[in-house]
Amino acid sequence: MTTFILNNQLIQTDQPQGMTLLDFVRYHKHLVGTKIGCREGDCGACNLLMGELIDGKMHYKSLTSCITPLGNAQGKHIVSIEGLNMEKLTPYQQAMVDESGSQCGICTVGFIVSFAGECLAYRPNSYESVIGAIDGNICRCTGYKSIERAAKIVYNKLKNKDIANPVAWLVQHGFIPEYFMDIPKKISQIVVPTPLNGHVIVGGGTDLFVQKHDEIYESSVNLISDNKHLTGIRKEGGKCIIGAATNATQMLESDILNKIFPNLYAHLKLVSSTPIRNIGTVAGNFINASPIGDLTAFFIALNSTIYLKNKSGNTRFLLLKDLYKGYKILDKSEDEYITHLSFDIPDSDTYFNFEKVSKRTYLDIASVNTAIQITVQNDYIEEVHISAGGVAPIPKYLQQTCNYLTGKHLTENTISEALEVMQSEVAPISDARGAKEYKRLLLRQLVFAHFMELFPEKFEIAMLA
Ligand SMILES: Cc1cc2nc3c(=O)[nH]c(=O)nc-3n(C[C@H](O)[C@H](O)[C@H](O)COP(=O)(O)OP(=O)(O)OC[C@H]3O[C@@H](n4cnc5c(N)ncnc54)[C@H](O)[C@@H]3O)c2cc1C
Ligand code: FES
Ligand code: FES
Repeated sequence: MTTFILNNQLIQTDQPQGMTLLDFVRYHKHLVGTKIGCREGDCGACNLLMGELIDGKMHYKSLTSCITPLGNAQGKHIVSIEGLNMEKLTPYQQAMVDESGSQCGICTVGFIVSFAGECLAYRPNSYESVIGAIDGNICRCTGYKSIERAAKIVYNKLKNKDIANPVAWLVQHGFIPEYFMDIPKKISQIVVPTPLNGHVIVGGGTDLFVQKHDEIYESSVNLISDNKHLTGIRKEGGKCIIGAATNATQMLESDILNKIFPNLYAHLKLVSSTPIRNIGTVAGNFINASPIGDLTAFFIALNSTIYLKNKSGNTRFLLLKDLYKGYKILDKSEDEYITHLSFDIPDSDTYFNFEKVSKRTYLDIASVNTAIQITVQNDYIEEVHISAGGVAPIPKYLQQTCNYLTGKHLTENTISEALEVMQSEVAPISDARGAKEYKRLLLRQLVFAHFMELFPEKFEIAMLA
């Protein structure tokens, strides 16, 4: 049984928890305002809001309902366009009308829902954050300039928002219907049953539903994204510990991670889009084992350890880089799952960088990605870890390159020679994301870009030639 509130209505349903939320909303509740575009998380036409009660307050985020399991709505407030509509247009709906932000209208509902999610955030809104909120929405016919102008209006209208109590302010100013005020009480009355302990582990579902939509519908699922034992980011001793079911937005909002990685926002905004980051988990990225997984590249370079548990309760750990044995072949038995990961918090001599190039800057998977963690003392490389995606059948740890660099003086010559070593340990293939020669060259440039980014006084653009 899945129990939640859909707009203003209490839902109790025995439909399979592996059904997509989109299908439930459209075909079982006949709320057809939510549109179907790609069914792969790519276009945002199906976006809904999911509100969660945390410490007495509702926290809302947008998500792509076409790849979200119905079971993940358990105990939540799900909002579709029908739940945002009022007699008068909301300011963000009016902005789209005034700026001619819609033509055929297939995408429009998704844009409106994303704008609503941004309005509901417990932080000031900037023009950049309003634009960022629609980074997972694609429009094929209007043209983005008019939608950007609508976003500007939305931003201007939010300037005086009460960030301590956005829901009340938004209700008062006609952004959302009044019933939102009663939702915390209604949600707190829902008794959430113990989740099913099914066969297929589902985090956000952003990989599974793209690849195995029908299979998941028929499977018994083990939904872990709300499992409190598997989420959260904390410091323990000199280590940072991240729960396996933590998503990229939770990483982005973490004070601990932002302190460790001052460029975290710049790095993570290159990963998927807002609604995908809101649900896709870090362990899902590891286990999917895509050779171009961004979070995988990120955490391999941090020399992270992952912790596994099996159904009998036995635990073990291994370095993330050692998880990958061949294309989609893992050092993991069927009944093991990841509980958390950990990495050493870098000291002041240790530097981190992440680079990614894809065909589109945002909402696209990488042609090549790479991350580095390097410790330099008195100009000597004490320790270095470099990952590279898109250049091998697995997320690659550049072992030989790292061995070559360790103990060397940090000079242009050292880096040039290391780049040669690197070429001998990668074997990209030509595919839709680029020719193998291009990927080799790209990796070379990106690894050099790490050094330019981290040590700008030492390395200049000239060396790229
Ligand atoms: C539109 C779109 C854009 C994307 N863009 C990017 C991108 O830019 N970069 C990128 O790296 N990825 C991208 N992805 C891929 C995906 O979002 C990520 O890989 C995400 O981190 C997967 O997490 P999830 O929780 O959704 O995985 P799920 O689909 O829930 O699970 C994936 C696999 O992991 C297993 N699993 C999940 N959690 C555990 C666990 N704790 N222990 C053991 N097994 C587990 C599942 O059983 C399944 O086999 C994109 C996906 C979409 C749909
Ligand atoms: S239908 Fe395109 S993201 Fe869901
Ligand atoms: S208005 Fe037609 S796709 Fe956006």
